[in-house]
Amino acid sequence: MVTPGAGSPVAGQAAVVTGAAGVIGAAIARTFVDAGLRVVLGDVREEELDRLAAELGGPAVAVACPADVSRPDDVRRLVRMAPETFGRLDALVNVAGITHVDDILEVSLDTWRHVLAVNLEGPLLAAQEAARLMSAQDIDPGTRRRGVIVNISSQGAEVPIPTSTAYGVSKVALNYLSRTLATALEERAIAATIVYPGMVYEGMWKWVNRKRSRLWGDDFDEVVLRDLAETPTGSFQDPDDLARMVLYAVTTPGMVTNGRILWSEAHLEW
Ligand SMILES: NC(=O)c1ccc[n+]([C@@H]2O[C@H](COP(=O)([O-])OP(=O)(O)OC[C@H]3O[C@@H](n4cnc5c(N)ncnc54)[C@H](O)[C@@H]3O)[C@@H](O)[C@H]2O)c1
Repeated sequence: MVTPGAGSPVAGQAAVVTGAAGVIGAAIARTFVDAGLRVVLGDVREEELDRLAAELGGPAVAVACPADVSRPDDVRRLVRMAPETFGRLDALVNVAGITHVDDILEVSLDTWRHVLAVNLEGPLLAAQEAARLMSAQDIDPGTRRRGVIVNISSQGAEVPIPTSTAYGVSKVALNYLSRTLATALEERAIAATIVYPGMVYEGMWKWVNRKRSRLWGDDFDEVVLRDLAETPTGSFQDPDDLARMVLYAVTTPGMVTNGRILWSEAHLEW
């Protein structure tokens, strides 16, 4: 029998994945465990986290940690759980995110602040805690780093989305934060990498496009066909393909992906 992850440069390493109960976060967690990583799963959805942790093989490889990334105490508890449970923190993947659909003239300050708290302040707090822990550990001989931080951003950072202004602003700012982390932490052998997902249908894409279609009076099925026509493959992105791109950032040794944006599947027109 082949042991998952045997011979992988990251076998036995430990990662924290936020938003792990979501479509993309869960795919990343599964891909990591298959590659031999052990994972701490963070999300606000407790039952889904417990189910995923059990599916992945239980406490030897996956532990659930209910946490709201907009709360500093939760984030600290979540990130620290990796060294406390698995002895190290090699990778932090900030996946947790929310969006909104509002006319730009109507978006409330509450919505604006909540989106920024989850999508931007969450990754900042998690990166700060992770970098402190990573700085105190030895360089791993396999990856030749103390650790890596991967931030799941969005192609929405490249083009204005009139109905999701706070979301776009949060992702543009997340890119800036990521590049700043990349510059500031390089000398400590900690990398920071940005990943742009393609269109992953379940999860955020379906939710936001259904809502936007209703707001603009568009036919949802036509929106699907129009957006698919702009993709390289004519299909939605398989979350497992995206997860392999994130794994690439985590397994590639050295600082090759430091400060880079990895586009996992680009819209042809952008
Ligand atoms: N689906 C896509 O096509 C797409 C495209 C571009 C970028 N993204 C990004 O990918 C990430 C994941 O999106 P998804 O499609 O898997 O959506 P999803 O809704 O399936 O997953 C998001 C997860 O984040 C969790 N979450 C929300 N608020 C939280 C909080 N305060 N604390 C902790 N967890 C919280 C949710 O419970 C959910 O499980 C997001 O950052 C999103 O911006 C997705």
